[in-house]
Amino acid sequence: MAGSSIPRFYERDRASRLEALREAASLDEADIAVLSGGGGIGFEEADAMVENAVGTMGVPLGIATNFVVNSRDVLVPMATEESSVIAAASRGARAARATGGFAASAGEARMVGQVQIVGGYADDAEARVAAASGEILGAANSASRTLRRLGRGARSVSCRRVRTGDAEQLVVELDVDVGDAMGANATNSMCEAAAPAIEAATGGRALMRILSNYSPRRMASATATFLAAEVGGEGAVRDMVLAYELARHDMFRAVTHNKGIMNGIVAVATATGQDVRAIEAAAHAHASAGGAYTSLSGWSVDAEGNLAGRLEVPLAVGTVGGISGIHPTARACARVMRASAPADLACVMAAVGLAQNYSAMRALVTTGIQAGHMRLHARNLAIAAGAPPARAAAVAARMVSEGDISEARAREILAGGQ
Ligand code: MEV
Repeated sequence: MAGSSIPRFYERDRASRLEALREAASLDEADIAVLSGGGGIGFEEADAMVENAVGTMGVPLGIATNFVVNSRDVLVPMATEESSVIAAASRGARAARATGGFAASAGEARMVGQVQIVGGYADDAEARVAAASGEILGAANSASRTLRRLGRGARSVSCRRVRTGDAEQLVVELDVDVGDAMGANATNSMCEAAAPAIEAATGGRALMRILSNYSPRRMASATATFLAAEVGGEGAVRDMVLAYELARHDMFRAVTHNKGIMNGIVAVATATGQDVRAIEAAAHAHASAGGAYTSLSGWSVDAEGNLAGRLEVPLAVGTVGGISGIHPTARACARVMRASAPADLACVMAAVGLAQNYSAMRALVTTGIQAGHMRLHARNLAIAAGAPPARAAAVAARMVSEGDISEARAREILAGGQ
């Protein structure tokens, strides 16, 4: 890909943005047609995806610029309805460029499958499961021909005892290598297929047979250094660390801090057809894995006085199977990022989360979040006040210049008021 820093991308009209995107990401006309089309799917596809379908619902799709991830320039498609998210990601990525952008990594594509065993299992269930592991894994792997063909599948089986008040349950867990898929369906099928062998081994009854959406081995991380001059000087760097310390120690702040991180991650996940609910649930589980809910990111001052950021978040993403493999827009978005493997996608998503967090915190410790947000939200307010889309930009620009950005003011302007 050519550079991801496209001059004045924000100010261009749609045709010029699409042309710059086509050139920078080496897309073909078919990709551009999908990305600029009405959302990639019609009613027939929607009807095949969900029950009781009546239509489709559009979400804006934009491109975050300036990202360098593992020394690779990447333009990042983001699907979100929230104003200022894409601008904030682009700003954070620009701020990181001076030091080489983001270094990111992604863990193994492993999923945990759980078989819950209740009632009367043997005292030495662990030893029995270990002795029967060959049959259990064989039964599990019989459930996914695709993973078997690719040399993937259930790798090992282990047990955990879980106290449930005065009682105890046994959870038998499969460790599944899901390859390039997110892997929920394969893991669930494997749990169901392995359950009879697990019952036979333990002497208990298999109740629930389902994946866990928390996969500690599927962790993605990103780091970046932001020059003190870029942050706003020594004082601003210190303030950023103070802001982080509150998120680290206070759950009420941490949840908002992490929401900002997820603004970025979820937007990329939506654009690429990932299971957004699974990603959200896992992220918040990870944020509380130490026993108290805390920040997903960490910020400190490095030896040179610059701001060092890091983010660690579980990201179960796939590039085959599920919607990611069939939704035309999701596929085109993956091509924009050149994310042919889930690890590439997870690295970009972690970088976007960190960039988003940087920009939100920086705004919060300097000007405050509302000035920038309201400027970008002004067009929505104009439309809410009844402006036709063609007039919305002019109404918004006037509200911004007057410094009065509100639906009430938009209504006055539309009514011809001063
Ligand atoms: C708004 O969608 C996200 C922020 O609240 C995140 C944060 O406070 O860090 C701005």
